[in-house]
Amino acid sequence: MPASPKILILGAGGFIGSHLLERILTTTDRQVIGIDIQSSKIEHLLDSERLTFAQLNVHDTRAVTEYIEQADIVISLVALCNPALYNTIPLDVIDINFNRPYELVKVCARMGKWLIHFSTSEIYGRTIASYTGLSYEEQEPKNYLLNEDETPLVLGPISNQRWSYACAKQLLERVLYAFAFEKGLQYSVIRPFNFIGPRMDFIPGVDGEGTPRVLACFMEALLFHKPIRLVDGGLNRRVFTYIDDAVDALMCMLRHPDQAKGHAFNVGNVANEISIADLARKMVATYKDLRPEFSECDFEINVVSGKAFYGEGYEDSDRRVPDIAKARELIGWEPKTGLDRALRNTMRAYIEQYASAAACRKAC
Ligand SMILES: NC(=O)c1ccc[n+]([C@@H]2O[C@H](COP(=O)([O-])OP(=O)(O)OC[C@H]3O[C@@H](n4cnc5c(N)ncnc54)[C@H](O)[C@@H]3O)[C@@H](O)[C@H]2O)c1
Repeated sequence: MPASPKILILGAGGFIGSHLLERILTTTDRQVIGIDIQSSKIEHLLDSERLTFAQLNVHDTRAVTEYIEQADIVISLVALCNPALYNTIPLDVIDINFNRPYELVKVCARMGKWLIHFSTSEIYGRTIASYTGLSYEEQEPKNYLLNEDETPLVLGPISNQRWSYACAKQLLERVLYAFAFEKGLQYSVIRPFNFIGPRMDFIPGVDGEGTPRVLACFMEALLFHKPIRLVDGGLNRRVFTYIDDAVDALMCMLRHPDQAKGHAFNVGNVANEISIADLARKMVATYKDLRPEFSECDFEINVVSGKAFYGEGYEDSDRRVPDIAKARELIGWEPKTGLDRALRNTMRAYIEQYASAAACRKAC
């Protein structure tokens, strides 16, 4: 029997990378090479005989190229993907989300490797519906449902540097498409829609500094009894997708390479759409349920402007509802985890990881 293809995961030590690595090592016989600048989220996997882990910066193009040469499939996850960075260090954001993966594309094209690239649902930008002046209830699906191959990608003005990330990721997708068109590159793209799960983001002041993504911001507020801050009232809507379902999508691609190649796939759980304001309220209720000792506490929810929270140049996508027909039809993917379970699992993991650090802070 021919050996299973060897997989290289760039960004193996991150949130998605750690779950993907775990799944591949526990459910397949594949050899994996992992690259990342950090390994704290994959310590439990480093002893695996089928894993070669290299603590490496992707700026070291020569070393990365040597690892690419050894692999058949390259999965690219390395990014700066935290909204608080997009308008504060946009040059670093553009470099790591466009320049570095562009080098990777060239090497994969030259060597004939299948490149699976993690893009983002942010490339859709704002919906057409947001410009109609109609309320959320009045909007027509064709103006907000996001289809991989038909929906226009609508980013805001250059001075709103929030779009640096989305624009870099969008241009990289155009490069992938062009390399396939002109040079026969084998590629696939995943566009994640707000994945959540254990090992997601740091808690400021405990194991990281700055502003993490929204779920970790709200967890910090709950754990440390700070007010939950709703940016611009939390009116924007997102679908939250559980990490196990997200990893399922990647595994479906690996099982169906011929159907996956040459396509971008939305990976999001439409059934889990919620406004950020409702997410905050749902997280308060779930927290009280998971920690009955705080069931009588009041958790303050304050509104803050996007400019005050993120700084100058902030703007946001209003709504992101993925059309997932293509993932269903071509690779047989279907998300299974409802929002209640996804939130409970994620919040339980945060509580287990951080409750002792929070215990020394004031009670309600
Ligand atoms: N998590 C989501 O919901 C989501 C949403 C949209 C897009 N994405 C995309 O999915 C991919 C993975 O996201 P994630 O949530 O796991 O992010 P993450 O930040 O947890 O993982 C990224 C990893 O890249 C590593 N890294 C950063 N710079 C590096 C460098 N110079 N050299 C080597 N490693 C470096 C980091 O150490 C980190 O482990 C990213 O491309 C991101 O843009 C994720």
